[in-house]
Amino acid sequence: MEIYNDLLQRAKKVRERAYAPYSHFPVGAALLTAEGEIFTGCNVENASFGLTICAERAAVFAALAAGKKQFKGIALVADTVEPPTPCGACRQVLHEFAPDMWIICANLKGQKRLLHLSQILPAAFTAKKDKDGPF
Ligand code: THU
Repeated sequence: MEIYNDLLQRAKKVRERAYAPYSHFPVGAALLTAEGEIFTGCNVENASFGLTICAERAAVFAALAAGKKQFKGIALVADTVEPPTPCGACRQVLHEFAPDMWIICANLKGQKRLLHLSQILPAAFTAKKDKDGPF
């Protein structure tokens, strides 16, 4: 499918802009909105390692800043042995806006894997309160 390849190409391209002098592990992500727009993100590290932002969250935050918060899918590209999957923190952030989204994972060898977010983040956290709950 064309959009599938567009997303992969955009993720691969933005990966070149990653700032990863500590891990030497650049990652690129391309997020597809419900309207068909694409927002990209790359990982940005810091000398204070914990301040690092992953490519997926960078893409989500760029889209949010542009007023978009409905997403259909995200492509992720890194130089890994197996196609990379999003880290746990990014899975939870993706779930916040798009629990029903597809994740296209690819490595530089061209190996691909298509996953649904629900497969890789079962029993995601939600803050929904039940007013008749037990506590
Ligand atoms: N990283 C991402 O950008 N996305 C992920 O899903 C996992 C990890 C980045 C963070 C860090 O800059 C580097 O990869 C190594 O962990």
